[in-house]
Amino acid sequence: MRIVFFGPPGVGKGTQAHLLAQRLNVPLIATGDVLREAIASGSTLGLKAAEYVSKGELVPDDVMIALVKDLIERRAHDFVLDGFPRTVKQAEALKRALGEKGIDAVIGLCAPLDLLIERLSQRRVCPRCKRNYHLTLNPPKRTGRCDSCGSPLVQREDDRESVIKRRIEVYTKESQPLVEWYRGKGLLREVDGTGAVSQVFARVCGAVEIAQPRTPNRQSP
Ligand code: AP5
Repeated sequence: MRIVFFGPPGVGKGTQAHLLAQRLNVPLIATGDVLREAIASGSTLGLKAAEYVSKGELVPDDVMIALVKDLIERRAHDFVLDGFPRTVKQAEALKRALGEKGIDAVIGLCAPLDLLIERLSQRRVCPRCKRNYHLTLNPPKRTGRCDSCGSPLVQREDDRESVIKRRIEVYTKESQPLVEWYRGKGLLREVDGTGAVSQVFARVCGAVEIAQPRTPNRQSP
């Protein structure tokens, strides 16, 4: 399957995309993570991306289109894509790159603005294994340390309040038009992103018409 996750900053795309990729056993391609890795490595792409990402602006379409085309060609026939496309130009390029088969569905997550801001300002991330935490709703077991690899958790530079505001403005202006674009193509599955991670995941699974994994020891109703 080829699934795209779409929605405003902080709505839970990364969290849900990771779970769905595991569930479907397909690669996850997350453009935000790819850019942050490039920035950390100091590569040419990273130097170029840094000036946009730190301000909450979109990296130019030509850079993103070349990057994702390469990732898809090298890595995957089936995939879960998180963070791309974000403009109609990117969506058109994805369509051209994938040809006949195209994508199977776009999961459009939505949540109220105050929840987005709260989730982003409370987020801490592991720079090593990329795991996400929420300081109160999904805290690490040991304060400030990743449960998986023990690395110190950090706040993303673009999770500062002023940058959060700008990212949401950019989403509204540049990315939201894609909702209608994908709705018009019959690919959009709108999913309520509020509630616990497991509740949202159950809706995501419903939207892609797959059965939820059974929880061992769960009693039948
Ligand atoms: P990117 O990393 O993709 O950022 P984003 O789209 O702004 O999304 P976020 O990662 O902030 O949020 P999310 O929706 O994934 O939520 P998450 O699951 O983490 O991109 C960063 C930057 O790179 C962009 O601003 C841009 O500059 C550039 N870029 C990337 N792709 C680009 C492209 N295609 N074109 C141009 N530029 C591009 O959850 C957020 C928090 O909430 C976490 O703490 C999580 O633990 C918590 N949480 C999630 N779900 C729940 C829940 N149900 N209950 C409670 N807490 C929850």
